[in-house]
Amino acid sequence: MTANGLLGEIADIGRDARHGGYSRHAYDSAESTLREWFIEQAGRRGLDVETDRNGNIWAWWGHPGSGAVVTGSHLDSVPGGGAFDGPLGVTSALAAVDLLHTKGFTPAKPLALLVFAEEEGGRFGVPCLGSRLLTGAIDADRARALRDAAGITLAEAAAKAGQDPERFGADPEALARIGCFVELHVEQGRGLIDLDSPVATGSSIIAHGRYRFSFAGQGNHAGATRLIDRQDPMLPAAAVIAAARRIAAVTDDARATVGKLIPTPGGTNVIASTVDLWLDARVAGNGRTAALVEDIAGAAREAAAAEGCTVTVTEESYSDDVVFDDALRTRMDGVLGGVPSLPTGAGHDAGILAAHVPSGMLYVRNPTGISHAPEELAEPADVDFGAQSLAQVLEDLAR
Ligand code: GLV
Ligand code: MN
Ligand code: MN
Repeated sequence: MTANGLLGEIADIGRDARHGGYSRHAYDSAESTLREWFIEQAGRRGLDVETDRNGNIWAWWGHPGSGAVVTGSHLDSVPGGGAFDGPLGVTSALAAVDLLHTKGFTPAKPLALLVFAEEEGGRFGVPCLGSRLLTGAIDADRARALRDAAGITLAEAAAKAGQDPERFGADPEALARIGCFVELHVEQGRGLIDLDSPVATGSSIIAHGRYRFSFAGQGNHAGATRLIDRQDPMLPAAAVIAAARRIAAVTDDARATVGKLIPTPGGTNVIASTVDLWLDARVAGNGRTAALVEDIAGAAREAAAAEGCTVTVTEESYSDDVVFDDALRTRMDGVLGGVPSLPTGAGHDAGILAAHVPSGMLYVRNPTGISHAPEELAEPADVDFGAQSLAQVLEDLAR
């Protein structure tokens, strides 16, 4: 089946009627349905499916073994995300297997499709959790204890979905099987629109991290409390939002975003007692993200003190700059007859794997240039072209 046909099969799963687009979060019912759908699709193609210690699903064409050519992506989304971020890589991998079957190709090396668990961190806060656990980039105890908005731990959610969270943790045997990893992904900016190309390889990912700012003040009455008597944590929170933009704007290659803010208790006529907000910060160049966050944290401390509030800043995740394997990129470029190569500000499981095995990305043009939003798009012709490109790359790598 084509990748367009496969995307059509899952188009109704996890639609978000409130936010628009899709909300498919790790181990929720939508993502679990997609995981079952993938397992069923892999079975139809005669692939042998296994779920590893960390909830990542592998589908093998040929015997699992070292030197495998591995491709895949994820099935979870951000809240209110698009249809392509994640599923395009998974459906293109399945479609590529179909294209290679049709050609009568038999891989000389083991070939596997890989679906990572919780790439976006949309439920448990830490992005690329499946690949971080697999590679040991996150401590298993810390991962097990991560909580979603309802207070459910990752361990509880994974157990409910049939995983054994006690087995979470670095999996050197699974990792050692990967000879190289290629992730096909919808492009998340305007790169390929401007270059007028349907596909590109990935060159690099800029360093990125997530930081929780927790402000505490004094909950109180919105009408009865004089302004001079207030300790309102919403004020330093607002100052941080403005400071993040102001400081990032004068820092080369920097992005800073506050996309999530939770006041407690959250009443219109209630001065909040606490406010938590999450800063997503990304600056090219190792060490520069921490420096940017320190400047923003300084603004937070100053604004908190001025309002009689306190603030604590906690790093929830961090990834250094990634430069994708040059030999793999050059090889894909040769197979595809010369395509552009793009740096990105978006994080990917391929970026986590890149510290351990030769890894690369194939991007497919996004005509809206919008991602992590319902307007994210890939035209059907480009989806087909992407899957064909992936098939060509896999054929070359696994021959
Ligand atoms: C994942 O898509 C990220 O870059 O946050
Ligand atoms: Mn994403
Ligand atoms: Mn993604």
